[in-house]
Amino acid sequence: MRIDVLTLFPEAVEPFFASSIVARAQASGIVSIRCTNIRDFAADRHRSVDDRPFGGGPGMVMMCGPLFDAVEKVERDEPTPATRIMLTPQGERFDQATAREFAGRDRLLIICGHYEGFDERIRQGLRPREISIGDYVLSGGEPAAMVLVDAVVRLLPGALGDDQSADNESFSNGLLEYPQYTRPREFRGMEVPPVLLSGDHARIERWRREESIRRTGDRRPDLWKETTEPSS
Ligand code: ADE
Repeated sequence: MRIDVLTLFPEAVEPFFASSIVARAQASGIVSIRCTNIRDFAADRHRSVDDRPFGGGPGMVMMCGPLFDAVEKVERDEPTPATRIMLTPQGERFDQATAREFAGRDRLLIICGHYEGFDERIRQGLRPREISIGDYVLSGGEPAAMVLVDAVVRLLPGALGDDQSADNESFSNGLLEYPQYTRPREFRGMEVPPVLLSGDHARIERWRREESIRRTGDRRPDLWKETTEPSS
């Protein structure tokens, strides 16, 4: 997979992509991530990428020109067609199903906004998929780009050391993950549930499934409902 991130702050996202699982996935050739600075496509000597909104009002708006030029240049650089993604609190809510969908694409092009918002013609002309990572407003799309890339890359085959480990996690089956324990068996008076030490794999599986269901019902009854009563 190839991922391009278009941002005004590559220095904010590059260290993240150079760490942990995302870095390892790049080192093993599973994904290649490249950041492009939108400001490099500014047309004037002030390197402007934003301007005041027509009609007045607070803040600045991201201009069309530099962003269109950046998208077109980056897309020309490599022939694989890209799924364009724009990060904005106005987008559809990002979730595990969307992460899975994006993990199936060959190429993602992620646009991070800043300032008060995007000139509407960016939506109109580039027709990106608009994605929000939650109902709160960030100062820019960069933290959202890190969230999206992380959630997608860890689903790529081979990205996690153990291929199975993405299957048992929270959300992967519509349930939250069961409680996990590691050494020591007893810590400050808190014990590991004996079933996990029993060696009886069928019983362990059953216990984990029950705990997952209980936990989902307690904490996220909305998820539980979605799983048991799928909306047609
Ligand atoms: N940019 C600003 N806020 C955002 C959010 N909640 N999700 C995605 N991009 C954003």
